[in-house]
Amino acid sequence: MNHRAWMRSQGFTPEVFDGRPVIGIATTWSELAPCNVHLHRVAESVKRGVWQAGGFPLEFPAMALGETLLRPTAMLYRNLLAMEAEELIRANPLDGVVLLSGCDKTTPGLLMAASSVGLPAIMVTGGPMLNGKYQGTDVGSGTAVWRWEEDLLAGRMTEAECAFAEGCMARSNGHCMTMGTASTMASMAEALGMQLPYSATWPAVDARRYSTAQRAGQRIVDMVENDLTPDKIMTRDAFENAIRVNAAIGGSTNAVIHLLAIAGRLGVQLELDDFDTLIRDVPTLVNLQPSGKYLMEDFCYAGGLPAVMRELGGLLHAGALTVTGATMGENVKDAPVWNRDVIMPMDQPFQGAGTGTAVLRGNLAPDGAVIKQSASSPHLLKHRGRALVFDSPEAYHRVAADEDLDIDEDTVLIIRYCGPKGYPGMPETANVPLPAKLLKRGVKDIVRICDGRMSGTAYGTVVLHVAPEAAAGGPLALVKTGDWITLDVPARILSLDVPDDELAARKAAWTPPPRPASRGWTWLYTEHVQQADTGCDLDFLTGKSGAKVGRDPH
Ligand code: FES
Repeated sequence: MNHRAWMRSQGFTPEVFDGRPVIGIATTWSELAPCNVHLHRVAESVKRGVWQAGGFPLEFPAMALGETLLRPTAMLYRNLLAMEAEELIRANPLDGVVLLSGCDKTTPGLLMAASSVGLPAIMVTGGPMLNGKYQGTDVGSGTAVWRWEEDLLAGRMTEAECAFAEGCMARSNGHCMTMGTASTMASMAEALGMQLPYSATWPAVDARRYSTAQRAGQRIVDMVENDLTPDKIMTRDAFENAIRVNAAIGGSTNAVIHLLAIAGRLGVQLELDDFDTLIRDVPTLVNLQPSGKYLMEDFCYAGGLPAVMRELGGLLHAGALTVTGATMGENVKDAPVWNRDVIMPMDQPFQGAGTGTAVLRGNLAPDGAVIKQSASSPHLLKHRGRALVFDSPEAYHRVAADEDLDIDEDTVLIIRYCGPKGYPGMPETANVPLPAKLLKRGVKDIVRICDGRMSGTAYGTVVLHVAPEAAAGGPLALVKTGDWITLDVPARILSLDVPDDELAARKAAWTPPPRPASRGWTWLYTEHVQQADTGCDLDFLTGKSGAKVGRDPH
């Protein structure tokens, strides 16, 4: 009676308390997260489906992480969202949960939470914005901004032209419509089997997104009845499917970190090296920015993710179970391709096999680093150059416009102390714009190395996620300006050409930077965050505790 009485203050009739499944709808809606601002409407569609199938839907807020506004980086808060949502799902009397996400970190954060609880869960991502349109051409969010920023620096665009262009870019609800991190993670959720087919690609304003959300509401009630829990869907086979699909769509390097973190919650054995070995025979099929030409709206009309998965055929585990109750193979077996310029065939791919994410190792990255080959300049994938070192992106930005900066096209630009502990939160600072001096000479790309991340919408020959990070005492902290560095992507090598005894002497003289906070979330985060090669989860959050409230069964 206690529970019912207060719930009836919302005007529910008594029969909704007859024992029907109670379905939580976790929404990351917020006006501070513009990519998620329409999720409140998506939730209404989910509710229709839940009512229709005989469930009782209750919407609740989970921390909204807006990539564009949160400082120092939304990534600092992914684990906080995961922790908050996990506790809310467990502590409330729910039988199943629908996860509504959009902007980059909200998708992995909610999947991590649902994985640790283990109640039946289905995801509905918010969908991409419509294509940006500027001066008669399509422009992609993020990707275009990086280019316009460089054009402004190089004097090819005025401030007024930039201000006009930005209004042409974001012209509907939805998340970034390039194959950036949001589109990538929506695709990963679908490839893992956690959202209904086509959910990743319907534009945010497309009516089919709302009918799919209604269908998800119906499905979660069935999933509760059949006890279809995330661990039965997100198996090792499902992760292998996701990694291969990520290569085929030219997805973001951020997927590496997020998939490792989700797998860590489920206890699925997944290693950084899996992201290299599993994609060596997978070509990039999808011709989307930032690697290619088109945008998510085009991808949708060309056939969406099911068409890509069907195209990949035997490279995927067709038997992996999904939220539909059917296998991945059954879901996609009839998925057509409508535009071969957007989704290319296996025998004539957009880029050849093995051009996705490569995992590098060597004395500069003993625990690994990654590079997105499809976003890199081919002539720089084997390169030896002298280091120019900056201890923060801000230090670089202060001199980036300096005409006397000692830099040329062979220089290897190092931006460090940007890792999970260092910045903190591992921001997307690795793809710093080229210095004005090189831009004016027409140089389009140089090798950059960083222990931070790169936006999925960005491009360039950028080595990312160097582990261990500089702030944890990794070798990146020991590099000095003028040192020679070898990058050999075909051989998967990243090395600092300095003798071991010299590196040992530098290590002995190195002192760690002061911790960025002495209290609060940032203190907790920097005390417990793990390195990029295992997904940057907090050490005490890996694994799962189940759905029961109270004493830990372990
Ligand atoms: Fe939210 Fe790109 S800023 S998805």
